[in-house]
Amino acid sequence: MKAVDTQQDKTILITGCSSGIGLCAARGLKQRGYRAFATARKAEDVRRLQAEGFESMPLDLANSASIRRAVAAVLQATGGRLYALFNNGAYGQPGAVEDLTREALRAQFETNLFGTHELTTLVLAAMRRQGYGRIIQNSSLLGFVALKYRGAYSASKFALEGLSDTLRLELAGSGIHVSIIEPGPILSRFRENAMRMYQEFIDPAHSTHHAKYMAMEARLEKMGPAVPFTLGPEAVLQKLIHALESPRPKIRYCVTVPAYAFAGLRRMLPWPLLDWVLQRIG
Ligand SMILES: NC(=O)c1ccc[n+]([C@@H]2O[C@H](COP(=O)([O-])OP(=O)(O)OC[C@H]3O[C@@H](n4cnc5c(N)ncnc54)[C@H](OP(=O)(O)O)[C@@H]3O)[C@@H](O)[C@H]2O)c1
Repeated sequence: MKAVDTQQDKTILITGCSSGIGLCAARGLKQRGYRAFATARKAEDVRRLQAEGFESMPLDLANSASIRRAVAAVLQATGGRLYALFNNGAYGQPGAVEDLTREALRAQFETNLFGTHELTTLVLAAMRRQGYGRIIQNSSLLGFVALKYRGAYSASKFALEGLSDTLRLELAGSGIHVSIIEPGPILSRFRENAMRMYQEFIDPAHSTHHAKYMAMEARLEKMGPAVPFTLGPEAVLQKLIHALESPRPKIRYCVTVPAYAFAGLRRMLPWPLLDWVLQRIG
């Protein structure tokens, strides 16, 4: 794979670098010679990233002022240029669709979609000026198929994919590429963080889905891989590197066997048959 050749072209802003895929991406790209602005929403994580040698600043996707401050700081540090944005920060809100409050759904979209969109528009202004750039969205296999009890998260990732597909069409000829990474199960703090949001917003005791929630709690609390074919976050980093460095980055990158499998089933199966398969999961 051809590496990006100028130092100028190696700046990247990454969201959600406190753990998991974001942290792995920041470390991996730094090692590869990138100037990675590794952002996180909590002050203690920013300090930890700075201690590790990153240029790090707070960026909370649920907070517009925080997004604007972070972009201003990055662009000031780079003289107004930015090669790439990796929209990675997000969380999964578990819960049956009928148990989701408006507040829970709004919070899910504030972070996973509205904040990501706002950040992207700010960065795009700089990319348009320089005439090139890469926007890479960390979506999910749940951005193209739905599974039970993951409706809020799936809706936010379907929406992210819709916005990204539109943006790509609108950016044709601009020199700015939009790629979507679609991971399946990846080892990270995702389940731990999902458990926190489940406890905040879902009331299992008064739900028709009570029994299902008990099984879900056990799965969310399980340490290590919860499902077969789980990979480490390095698997996402490999696709991210391709999206950053290939002269012809792909529109979509599947990561893990389940992501490839569901992408295939989604294309091949009629809807009732696809439902039959999806019904049997989790
Ligand atoms: N793990 C998987 O199986 C999997 C599969 C498909 C897609 N993904 C996607 O991969 C991405 C990274 O997730 P991960 O697996 O690495 O999980 P993770 O370890 O939980 O990391 C998620 C990151 O997002 C951050 N985040 C959450 N809310 C935020 C906000 N309001 N503003 C800024 N950052 C925020 C978290 O920060 P805090 O530490 O402050 O909460 C954390 O740094 C997400 O987009 C996720 O949807 C993951």
